[in-house]
Amino acid sequence: MSPQSQQVSDRNGSARSARPRRYLMCRPTYFEVTYSINPWMDPEKPVATEVAVAQWENLRELYLELGHQVELIDPLPGLPDMVYAANGATVADGKVLGARFRNAERGPEGPAYLDWFRAHGFAELHDPAHVNEGEGDFLVTGSRILAGTGFRSTPAAHAEAQEFFGLPVTGLELTDPYHYHLDTALTVLDGDEIAYWPGAFSPGSRAVLERLFPDAVLVGPQDAAAFGLNAVSDGLHVVLPEAATGFAAQLKERGFEPIGVDLSELLKGGGSVKCCTLELRPAAR
Ligand code: ARG
Repeated sequence: MSPQSQQVSDRNGSARSARPRRYLMCRPTYFEVTYSINPWMDPEKPVATEVAVAQWENLRELYLELGHQVELIDPLPGLPDMVYAANGATVADGKVLGARFRNAERGPEGPAYLDWFRAHGFAELHDPAHVNEGEGDFLVTGSRILAGTGFRSTPAAHAEAQEFFGLPVTGLELTDPYHYHLDTALTVLDGDEIAYWPGAFSPGSRAVLERLFPDAVLVGPQDAAAFGLNAVSDGLHVVLPEAATGFAAQLKERGFEPIGVDLSELLKGGGSVKCCTLELRPAAR
């Protein structure tokens, strides 16, 4: 199936179309929950690594079926969270901002991901001075970068990103520990069209979102708790956790094609679809 040829119209008659993407993923070969750095992680709860791998393989195959390209980085033993590739860097306009993790357990992932980019022809790289957890907290819209803070990435890292990319970076304060990364509370659907759960943000940040994105899809607490906003859109298909049925219905109303997937094993680490996916955005020509 060719994504270029896929077009549907929403109720207002505007056509949606999928654009082929390039993603970086990391197989959860060494996935387990041995420490807890977010409220989803309970080291007492058993994790079936082979189930995580099978669920992850399904996601990778789905991307390929949708016509996307999937690059792989080798997982490293002792780094169970490396499967959450979204945290490995932020890539916009072909430029790579490396990650610097808040928690020591994930520290070595930053250099490991930067090495992958160096070895794969990315010339413009920046090794960051301030704590930023890649696309966990930096979400690229059509006109700016939305940047989460409160739990992981810092405002100093937001400034560092703005300087490196030359894109306006808008800081947003996260307040709910279950939504410790921005990509657990907000998703970019297409250009400057976004969806978010207001309950994850401080009142000031909520007001900023209302001002900047008056047409945003507002997602309910159940769908947010099901990690529904941890979604990946190609402009038409929106891949999201299957439990987020309310959000899926909202997406259909808007002319998107939601595709629910089961990544329940990876949710035990506090991540889902988007966390496992890092988009490699090419330089604009
Ligand atoms: N266990 C990981 C952590 O707490 C999960 C990361 C999820 N990734 C994401 N992009 N939200 O850091």
